[in-house]
This record gives sequence, C-alpha cells and structure tokens, in this order.
Amino acid sequence: MELTESEREQVIALIAAGKPLPARFRASLFEDVRETELIWPGKTTEVERTVLPFQSIEHIDEPRSETNAQFDLFSVDGHSGRQSGGWTNKLIWGDNKLILSSLANGPMRAEIEAAGGLKLVYIDPPFDVGADFSLKVEIGDETVTKSASVIEEIAYRDTWGKARDSYVAMIYSRLVLIRDLMADDGSIYVHIDYRVTAFIRLILEEIFGEEMARGWLIWQIGTGAKGRSQWSNQHNDILCFSKGPSFTFNHEEPDLREPFADLSSQMHFNKIDENGRKYRERIVNDKSYFYYADEGKLVGSVWTDVSSMTANSPILGESVGYPTQKPEKLLSRIIKASSNPGDLVADFFCGSGTTLAVAEKLGRKWIGADLGRFAIHTTRKRIIQVQRELAEKGDSYRAFEILNLGSYERQYFAGIDPSLPEEQRAASSRQREEQFLELILGAYGAQRSEQLPGFQGVKDKAAVLVGPLDGTITQRVVSRAIEKARENNIQRIDILGFEYEMGIKPVMIDEAKELGVILTLKYIPNDVFDKRAIAKKEVKFFDVGYVDVKPKYGKDKSVTIDLKNFAVFYAQEDADATAAGLRIGQAKVVVDTGQVVRIAKDKKGTITREILTKDWADWIDYWAVDFDYESQREVITEVVDGEEKTSWTGRYVFENMWQDFRTKKQRELTRTSAPHTYATPGSYKVAVKIIDIFGNDTTKVIPVKVK
Ligand SMILES: C[S@@+](CC[C@H](N)C(=O)[O-])C[C@H]1O[C@@H](n2cnc3c(N)ncnc32)[C@H](O)[C@@H]1O
Repeated sequence: MELTESEREQVIALIAAGKPLPARFRASLFEDVRETELIWPGKTTEVERTVLPFQSIEHIDEPRSETNAQFDLFSVDGHSGRQSGGWTNKLIWGDNKLILSSLANGPMRAEIEAAGGLKLVYIDPPFDVGADFSLKVEIGDETVTKSASVIEEIAYRDTWGKARDSYVAMIYSRLVLIRDLMADDGSIYVHIDYRVTAFIRLILEEIFGEEMARGWLIWQIGTGAKGRSQWSNQHNDILCFSKGPSFTFNHEEPDLREPFADLSSQMHFNKIDENGRKYRERIVNDKSYFYYADEGKLVGSVWTDVSSMTANSPILGESVGYPTQKPEKLLSRIIKASSNPGDLVADFFCGSGTTLAVAEKLGRKWIGADLGRFAIHTTRKRIIQVQRELAEKGDSYRAFEILNLGSYERQYFAGIDPSLPEEQRAASSRQREEQFLELILGAYGAQRSEQLPGFQGVKDKAAVLVGPLDGTITQRVVSRAIEKARENNIQRIDILGFEYEMGIKPVMIDEAKELGVILTLKYIPNDVFDKRAIAKKEVKFFDVGYVDVKPKYGKDKSVTIDLKNFAVFYAQEDADATAAGLRIGQAKVVVDTGQVVRIAKDKKGTITREILTKDWADWIDYWAVDFDYESQREVITEVVDGEEKTSWTGRYVFENMWQDFRTKKQRELTRTSAPHTYATPGSYKVAVKIIDIFGNDTTKVIPVKVK
C-alpha cells in the first residue's frame, strides 16, 4: 500500500517531533505485512544464528549380550557389547535457542541429515505456572522441595512471569529454528493449552503456512473435579503442522484405532468372512470399501482414551516424579502416526524425557534438549532404564550421549562473540572477565581488592580468587594460590571457579591445611551473568563436592570400585527463618548447611529439628564408573573461516560402563560396583561420577594398575 503525499508529510512531521506513528501506517511502512497476523511489541522475524560447538560430556550404552537381535542396525563391539558406529542419540543440556541455532547452522546439521533428517518434533513448552523448576526430591520417606536455580527461574519469568508477548516471542523464535532444521517431509506437534492456543495457532500458520495444518488435537486430560463458578478446563490442545506437502501419516497403525461403538458394531458389522472376522461393506461411487470390526475405527481429533494419571500418579509405574510429565501412550500415538522405525524424532523441551523414552522403545532415533539440570538427570536415568529393559528382552537400542555448550555458552552469556578467532576470543574473554569480576565478587559477598597479590577480592578475612570464564581451575592454579597466601601471611583463601580439575578435593584442601591455609573451593553458577539474579542477591555458590573411592583388585585382571565417602555442603534456605514462619502443627523439610533437616512446630509451639541425611550415601542419587577414562578424548568441531576444525578440549568423555541409581521403586543404592575385567594388563585411569539428589555432579579420577 502506497502512502499519499499528505500521509508522507504527516509521517515525516511526527518522526521529526519524536512522536509515535498511528498503528494504521504499519501496513504501508513495512515490508512483508500480512493481512492477518499476530504482532507483539518488538516482534522480529530475525532469529538467533549463533553457532557454538557442542561438547559431548558423557556416553551411555548398556552392554548388549551376544544373542541380541538386530545388530545389523549399527555395529556393536564384540568384547564390550556396546555400539561402535552409526547414529548416537543426543541429550543436550542448555537453552534450546542456542542449541537450535547451533544445530541448524553448525556442523551437526550434516550429521542429522545423514541420519535421514528430522522427521518429527514434539514440544511441550512450559505453561504450567511455577511448576516447572521446583522439584520434589525424596530422602528416605520424606520429600524436600528443590528450589529453582536463578537462571531457570528467570527463563521461566521471562516467558511467563511478564506478559504473554514474552512467551509468544520465545516460542516464535524457537519454531522458526525448528522449522529450518526439520526434514522437508517432517511434522511438528505443539502441546499447549487454552491460555495460549489462539496465539500459537496463528504463529504456526505464519511460520509453516495455513495449508500445512494437519490436525488440532484435543487431549482430554482426565475427568477430575469440576469447578462450580465457571466451566472447568479439562483438555490440552496439540497442534500438528507439516513442513511440506508430503508427510508421514500411518493411519493403519493399531494405536490410532479405537473400538467401534457397541451399537454400530451390532447394526453394521453383520457379515462374517471365511476367517470368522466380522466386517462391513460400504459402496461409495460404485466402489466397495471393507471395514473389519476387530480393526476398530481411526481415532479422531478428540482423544479421551489417554489418562494423565499414568504419568502423574506416584503409585503408577510410569511416573518418574517430574511435575509436568506426559503419558507415554500420548507420545506413542503421535510417534507411531508421524514417523517410522529408524526415523529421527526430537523434543527440545524434553522435561523428564517422555518423548525420548517412547522413541527409543519404538526404534526411532532421537534428540532431546532441556535447560534444567534435573530434567537432564531424570531423562538420563529414564533412558538407562529403557535400555536395560530392551537389553533384557534382547531388543535393539541405541547408545546416547549427553552434550552441552560448556564454556562457550558461558562466554556467549558474557557477551563474547563466538565467531571471533581463538586469540581474539581469549582476549575478549579476559576483558569481559575483568568486567564481570566485580559482579561475581559482589554476588559472593566479597569486596574487590588489589591489595593482595594473586587475589582479586576479600571476604571476611579470606582472600578470594576468581577463575577464568573459559578454563578449568587446576591443581597448579590452587597450589600457586596457596603459595601466594603463605608469602603474604593469609590464612584463608576462597577460590571461585566455573570448572575444576577432577579430584581436586580433598587433595588440595589437605595440602593447604598442612601448610596452615584454610581453603574453600566454590562453583560460580551461570546465574552471575544475569544482573537481575545478582540484584535479587540469590546467586548461590555451591561447594565443590568431595568423593572418596577405593579400587579392589580381583582375580583375572578384574577391578571393583568401593564408594567410601561423599560430601556436599548445600544450603538452600535459612532454617531459622523457616522455623520462625511455621504454623502450629506444621512441618517443613529444608536444606541447611550441608544437611537436610525436617523442622516441625508441635501443638505447644515447640520447634524440633530432625536431621534426615543420616548417612553420606543419602545425598547420592546416581553413581557411575568409567573403568578406562582417558580412552576417549572430548573433541569439538568448530567452523573457522568457513572450514570445519576439530580439536581436543583437553578433557575426556565419561563412558558410563557401570552405574547404579535410585528410582521411585528402587530406593536402595549399592556402594560397590560390579567387577570390570580388563582385556590387557596395564595402568588405567578410573573415573567415578556421582550425581547428588539435586542433580549436581562430582567426578573423581583414580589410577589403577592391573597385573
Ligand atoms: C512442560 S515441561 C516438558 C515435560 C515433558 N513433556 C515430559 O513429559 O516430561 C517443559 C520443559 O521445558 C524446559 N524448558 C523451558 N525453557 C527452556 C529453554 N529455553 N530451553 C530448553 N528447555 C526449556 C523446562 O526445563 C521443562 O523441563
């Protein structure tokens, strides 16, 4: 639409006066304005294009027995029973915006395309106010609520806490990236509810095209209680779109069928074929169509036969205790309808991993992503269970790896351009570090000080050292700090780092103690990159955990690992404040200075405190052993000047060769691993990874000598 002469003058005059333009000019002033579209403040069709390299941090593959079928899908190592080639499933920890842009524009895209392309995406973005990030963690018979990390909370508030426009903007950018990554014949299912359905429908039409809409499913969640003041909402919406005109729809799949109604069955299915099957014949335009009663009819767009109870009721087997977990039956129907065995399926808001677990059971390849540490850990355990069940049945399954964007994500948060050449990036990193120094020290409650050589701050008589954005705090760095402390007569040092060399604790603590220095090692959480998190004064620096393990040598080159001790020193809330806020007869479980404590106020108003973590092993949720750590280097692929460059990060991939963990049903944990038999004598490094009940992990590496 053209502007008239007088409109043009009006626009110029308004701009010159610094006044806003009337909304009616929108269609005349901008390119690509549609007749009907959803707009929101700040809407832009520009999306994230950053490419950060993925780091594979863990590899998990339950060994297969030799009798396992379907080895032909990929190669399997005869000695270990582990997958040795082909596609490895991917569980990626981080913000899906960066993950999606790195997948869509980076080197992993070729890997996805070689695996046949992304055929199906299911996403269930968070819309259950407040429920997503705080979690119930079990300790014995009690549960403690794990509060959200500030970054998780902020991600949540940015999408939900403000207004709908921030949620819509968040989803819009993800959907554009997802569409880009999908195969031309791929489909997407977006799981939402009445609060946002109208918006998301318009966005999907804008991104995929109105003509690509393939279904609007109504999932009746359950029959629960009805409110008396207005209509109760008892369903979710699942919108389905395809990327192009051709797409998979397996209408003959038995899971897409439901029985005919009794009356219809009696009235219409009155013929019986030679095999004794009841059928009905319909003639349309002189053509005969046969329907068999036992095949049932195709389900329509209203699904009433999938109960949410299976996923959410703690007493039912499927529940893994994740608040927004969806039923496997729901995902099974979607996956069977819109993909075939061997296809690649993805869920970029995977939560407890329902999509991935079902995809694995149905022989699909998968990619999952989530921002929450606990979601990743819950999914890890869930998929191992699936692998174990499939292994027991002799069925095929794939290995999976856990990836993240590691220090690159941190640098990105700190505002460092990842496309800079390495040297410039390092320089920029140091400059940004300097800018962040005060922020980090402030969040820790320390003051910036240049008086203490080798240290940057001071807190309660302790000298404070802040580690680099892009590196690991090694034993050498700590030794140097201890030396500096001794030279300057400093008795206490606190080191804050993003990453630590494994097994640094207790070795360095003991070394410092012998030299008369009290050493504290703390993790800097990513929350420090968010000024609002700092302003809230809620950034928590967790202590580096401590693990003690011993190897036990058996006959025939075998080694068993004994877990001897584990310690973490969490403090989540102020126990005194909690006690003061209790009502008569009320009790609360809190985490306070390294203990989980149940605080109760009885009828007389007396406060009692009971420590629930009686044994160090109570903190452990999962532990795993890699008997030959250092056998697989962690490599990353970056695109430098348009060319792919592969380099070693200096770390190794942790191979889960043996693991034990608690589940809802299985609360006990063994403290001794199964024996591992080495093929050849020699010196090996054994890594032991412990994941505590809050989903944080600590790794220790020990040498073993096998004769
Ligand atoms: C409703 S839950 C998904 C539940 C899942 N369908 C299941 O069955 O367990 C939404 C998930 O999205 C994750 N999430 C929210 N924002 C995210 C982001 N920006 N990047 C990645 N994951 C995100 C949350 O951590 C949460 O686990």
